[in-house]
Amino acid sequence: MEKLELLYEGKAKKVFLTDEPAYYWVVYKDDATAFNGEKRGQILDKGVVNNQLSALFFQAMEKAGIPTHFVKIMDEREMLVKRLEMIPLEVVVRNVAAGSLAKRLGVEEGYRLPHPVIELYYKNDALGDPLVNESHVSAMGWADAEMVNTVQTLGLAVNEVLQGIMEKAGIDLIDFKLEFGVADGRVILGDEISPDTCRFWDKETQEKLDKDRFRRDLGRVEEAYLEVYRRVKEALLNV
Ligand code: TMP
Repeated sequence: MEKLELLYEGKAKKVFLTDEPAYYWVVYKDDATAFNGEKRGQILDKGVVNNQLSALFFQAMEKAGIPTHFVKIMDEREMLVKRLEMIPLEVVVRNVAAGSLAKRLGVEEGYRLPHPVIELYYKNDALGDPLVNESHVSAMGWADAEMVNTVQTLGLAVNEVLQGIMEKAGIDLIDFKLEFGVADGRVILGDEISPDTCRFWDKETQEKLDKDRFRRDLGRVEEAYLEVYRRVKEALLNV
């Protein structure tokens, strides 16, 4: 497999074409942004940690019967993925109120939700990724009702698998964001699963071990990413 020209550069990853049209070659960057790109910085070796962690999580999902775009690791910060036709939605699953939900609904960060809450956001930087519902999604033609149903079911399934892993790692899974695409008529999990796209709090101390350390200038950002990587690797050795 050969890495060919750059197809697309996002805020955290670059996507390259390969000599096989069905595959893309993804390079994870150290660049970090927050608040729709207003805050910018770098997290040293974030690209390496997010690539390795995403690979571990994707493999765990596949094992649980959840299809993902992951094919294989190509280098420390590079992975080969299946080419998907992306659905322009961010699917957020929440177990504990935090971030925008805490702010929007006026609840305290840390309030444990009695059941997982699923939200859909329209992926559009110019609009700041607005919150939408199923009827917006079908009316705008971003996905049909069956697809929306599938991404929600898969989102909850990912939550179950991820909670199981993080429990063993001594970490509370607060919330996370997923993106899905379609290949050969099937809905498949794409993008990444990492401390950039999840909130992870230490079970004992409730210390934040994710991108909120960057968003909120809490310091020790690199250490938090490495700590999650170390603990998840160990947790997956014992399953
Ligand atoms: P929020 O509380 O800011 O809406 O974030 C919910 C979850 O989604 C959190 O785990 C962080 C993740 N997220 C992203 O991965 N990308 C984004 O652009 C945003 C806003 C959130």
